Amino acid sequence: MRTQVGIVGGGPAGTLLSHLLHREGIDSVVLELRQRETVETTVRAGVLEHDTARLLESTGVGERMEREGAVHHGVELRFDGRGHRIDFSDLTGKSITVYGQQEVVKDLYRARDEAGSPPIFEAAATGFEGLETDRPKVRFRRGARFDPEAGEIRFADGSAEEEVECDFVVGADGFFGPSRQAIPGSVRKEYTRTYPFGWFGILVEGPPSTEELIYALSERGFALVSTRSPTVQRLYFQCDPDDSVENWPDGKIWAELAARLKSRDGSWKLEEGRIFQKGIVRMRSFVTEPMRYGNLFLAGDAAHIVPPTGAKGMNLAVADVRFLAKGLTQHYRDGSDGLLDRYSEVCLRRVWKASRFSWWMTSMLHAFPGEDEFQHRLQVAELDYVTSSRAASTSLAENYVGLPMDEM
Ligand code: DHB
Repeated sequence: MRTQVGIVGGGPAGTLLSHLLHREGIDSVVLELRQRETVETTVRAGVLEHDTARLLESTGVGERMEREGAVHHGVELRFDGRGHRIDFSDLTGKSITVYGQQEVVKDLYRARDEAGSPPIFEAAATGFEGLETDRPKVRFRRGARFDPEAGEIRFADGSAEEEVECDFVVGADGFFGPSRQAIPGSVRKEYTRTYPFGWFGILVEGPPSTEELIYALSERGFALVSTRSPTVQRLYFQCDPDDSVENWPDGKIWAELAARLKSRDGSWKLEEGRIFQKGIVRMRSFVTEPMRYGNLFLAGDAAHIVPPTGAKGMNLAVADVRFLAKGLTQHYRDGSDGLLDRYSEVCLRRVWKASRFSWWMTSMLHAFPGEDEFQHRLQVAELDYVTSSRAASTSLAENYVGLPMDEM
């Protein structure tokens, strides 16, 4: 099989790239390991930065988001039992849109269906060739299934190795995908930080407890109230990363959330409902440099992971592929590689700024095991400063709604 851009990974990064390239008349093939239904139903984050939402709108895949997504003009930071609003619109003139990542992916799949070129699902990349040349290849096999028990990929009987021959390979296959490993260790530098807690996330059938997101710090740790729709709510609380959902019957979850979110004057009430999904995510920061090797470009989680506290993960992936699409368009239209040559440098500047913001939000809002009262007092003082100084509030707000893309 021959295409212009071979894309490994059909999550938001890979599929959005394929969509953006198609609009410029550039052909691509997307290989996705998972089944379509799995990607479409796996609940991930749900906050779109201002410019992420505008990009989806302006490229014809934002129609359902505009109808079903919720535009939020601020968030609440709650500490010492009191809420403090950060007003994004006032401070930055921008807003965020709460709309699930899997809904974004569904909308992109529909656009790729209509273009007659959906991702190839259940297709595992098995090797890369000639990444330093202008005829790189991705080898892959169809009929793949990841077996989580064995921790390996199994293939249907008769699945043979095939090849995508292309001009460029894009690795958008997530943190555990093979593309990053295709960059020789002598060239690749990785930076990691793991956090000593995880997030316990639940999905709840019921009305919202709040119109805007609440990020709360209490002496019992972090909690977050988010939403998905008028009838589905998303809540999280900090937990031990090795904890198990079996240890958390519904009553215990509601009691923990209520204790962490309690308002001093008792005026706020947590709306309970039927919990229909529970899960624990671990938290890490990770950056790999460079994001390009020869004609292989990494995008999204394949190149960087942020802890979820700043809601940056998918937005960073979108920023990567937005720039990459511009670079590839310039290559095919003008024969110039000026933008592609700056891809790694431009993306990494944004990635490190988002890593800093996510690390900072995480550090300010979580109880660290073994921390003393002094540390907690400093966190409260920082929250007090952030919510009472216009300069500090603006700094949080401009990072949260998304730093401008003008550096591109
Ligand atoms: C959600 C996730 C986040 O990581 C965050 O910071 C805010 C909201 C969510 O899933 O709704």
